[in-house]
Amino acid sequence: MQFDVASVDHALMTTRAVRRRLDLERPVDQEILLECIDIAEQAPSGGNQGSRRWIIVQDQEIKDRIAEIYMESAGQWMIASYEKLEGTGHPQEKVMASAAHLAQHLAEVPAIVIPTIIGVHDGSGRPGLFDSVIQSAWSFCVALRARGLGSAWTTAILSRRDDLAELLGIPEGMTQIAMLPVAWMKGTDVRLAPRRPAREVTYFDRFATTWATGPHVDHNIDDGPGVVVERDIKASPASIWQFVSDINFGAEFSSEFVGARWDDHDAEVTVGSSFTGSNQHEAIGEWDVPCFVSSYSPERSFGWVTSDPDNPGAQWLFDLERIAGATRLRFSVTLGPGPSGTSHAIAQMPEKSGKIISRRLLEHRRNMEAVIEGIQREAERIEPPKSKDGVKAPLS
Ligand SMILES: Cc1cc2nc3c(=O)[nH]c(=O)nc-3n(C[C@H](O)[C@H](O)[C@H](O)COP(=O)(O)O)c2cc1C
Repeated sequence: MQFDVASVDHALMTTRAVRRRLDLERPVDQEILLECIDIAEQAPSGGNQGSRRWIIVQDQEIKDRIAEIYMESAGQWMIASYEKLEGTGHPQEKVMASAAHLAQHLAEVPAIVIPTIIGVHDGSGRPGLFDSVIQSAWSFCVALRARGLGSAWTTAILSRRDDLAELLGIPEGMTQIAMLPVAWMKGTDVRLAPRRPAREVTYFDRFATTWATGPHVDHNIDDGPGVVVERDIKASPASIWQFVSDINFGAEFSSEFVGARWDDHDAEVTVGSSFTGSNQHEAIGEWDVPCFVSSYSPERSFGWVTSDPDNPGAQWLFDLERIAGATRLRFSVTLGPGPSGTSHAIAQMPEKSGKIISRRLLEHRRNMEAVIEGIQREAERIEPPKSKDGVKAPLS
């Protein structure tokens, strides 16, 4: 059978959390759910043992009770959060509106499906029986999507797993994985989620090593080798931004970067502003490099390129992303495509291209890690975490 790749990709890419567009009026036949479970059961399984057990709940009284437990475990919090965010334009506002809607209407959803598995996670970190259920449950969601039904992967109710087990008669020794509300979907269009392109989140051969193209066997600098370091910092983007946008801050932590000065001190910083960076390296000596701001969006991104804005020797970028209870700071560099010390070294010893690149990337990685750690220390010092673990308290 020839695959219709576009349709398969479409189903995979548009299986999103459906909450407000669940059709609460149209009944869902068990047969279609069973068909989707048959498909899901083909997913890989540790030891090739089928140990998944699925519960389809359509009984109104049981759904009412599940909805109560969900409301107590998370729904009330979701509704209160949405009320706080309503009209603010906060990045979480839409998700919270949708989550609150589900909490308010869970009992009206035609079917609630709870995938479970025989076994209890042993915490060994080894993939085993327990880990055989998520991929299957996700296949179920994709199969639903392909048939015009929608669902949302939810786990908040699992903080009350004992109550759910008692309600549904789930015996000890079983693990509940998720709670999937299922209904026909209103409308068919689904927007893609905002995600980074694969090249930004995929490392080649070693963690943190990126390539803009390739990499090819000769590890050519024209393919744009790079490094990414990231930290989740328990501070707001505003606190972190002051260090990120301070072109001198890294000098205290890097073994190579000595300091920088704006070419025009008094001008407001915008894309195109220039500064000169000073560096030192035991093998290279001391040198200055002209730098040009390539990205400037307060509290979001600060980037610059070196030597020539049209043909940079390297491209540097800090970007900040607000996540639950923290800010994810990402610091990346891509070498080339223009000439640089590294490209000169490669021109002299082209047969050592791969080694020169990997050594240079490692040096950059160490320094970038030191800088990002310095930023973390300073930002968390001026803004202590709001809760003990800093995770539960969303930044406002
Ligand atoms: C592990 C996990 C647990 C989740 N738990 C809940 C939940 O309890 N309630 C809920 O409304 N959504 C839950 N979600 C759904 C996410 O909030 C959802 O993915 C997010 O709203 C983004 O929507 P999207 O899936 O369409 O990108 C969960 C998602 C995952 C992956």
